[in-house]
Amino acid sequence: MEQTLVLLKPDAVQRGLTGELITRFERRGLKVVALKLMRVPDALARQHYGEHEGRPFFPGLVEYITSSPVVAMVLAGPQSVKAVRQTVGGTDPVWGPDDPAAKFALPGTIRGDFALMKGRNLVHASDTPENGVKEVALWFRPEEIVPWARDTDRWLYE
Ligand SMILES: Nc1ncnc2c1ncn2[C@@H]1O[C@H](COP(=O)(O)OP(=O)(O)OP(=O)(O)O)[C@@H](O)[C@H]1O
Ligand SMILES: [Mg+2]
Repeated sequence: MEQTLVLLKPDAVQRGLTGELITRFERRGLKVVALKLMRVPDALARQHYGEHEGRPFFPGLVEYITSSPVVAMVLAGPQSVKAVRQTVGGTDPVWGPDDPAAKFALPGTIRGDFALMKGRNLVHASDTPENGVKEVALWFRPEEIVPWARDTDRWLYE
C-alpha cells in the first residue's frame, strides 16, 4: 500500500490540533502505520526542505519547523499521497477569485479550515509517491513502521 509522510508542524502541536487533524486522516480511511512526537534537528529540517534552499523564505521555514516539537507520521492507503494532499489543501490558506485554485486551500481542507498564512499552514505532506518513499526513510527507521491489518480494511478498499 502506498505510504506518505505527514508532519503536524509546530503550530498544529502548539494550537492543540493534533488529535483533530489525525482524526481527519483516520476518517478519510487512511491508516496510521507510524507515529511519533519529536523535536526536529536543524540538519533534518534542512535536508527535508532541501528543494527550497536559497529561496527567501528558507531560513524562516527552517526556524519554524525546528522551533517546537512536531508530530511525524506515516499514513498508508491507496493513492495515499494524492488523498492526503487533497485533505490538507493547497499551500496558501487564503485566496480570492483570481488566484489559481491548486496552490490555495479550499474550505473543507485542513488548511482552508484552520489556517490563515502559508508560513503557518499546520501540515506537511509528501507531494509525489517517490518523495513519499524518500521522506518516510528520512524521518523513520524501518523498525518504527508497523504494518497492521485493520478489521475495517475490507469496507474501505474494494
Ligand atoms: N512564499 C512562501 N512564503 C513563506 N512560506 C512559504 C512560501 N512558500 C512555501 N512556504 C512554506 O514552505 C513549505 C513548503 O513549500 P511547498 O511549496 O513544498 O508547499 P506544500 O507542498 O504545500 O507544503 P509542504 O511541503 O509543507 O507539505 C510550505 O508548506 C510553507 O509552509
Ligand atoms: Mg511540499
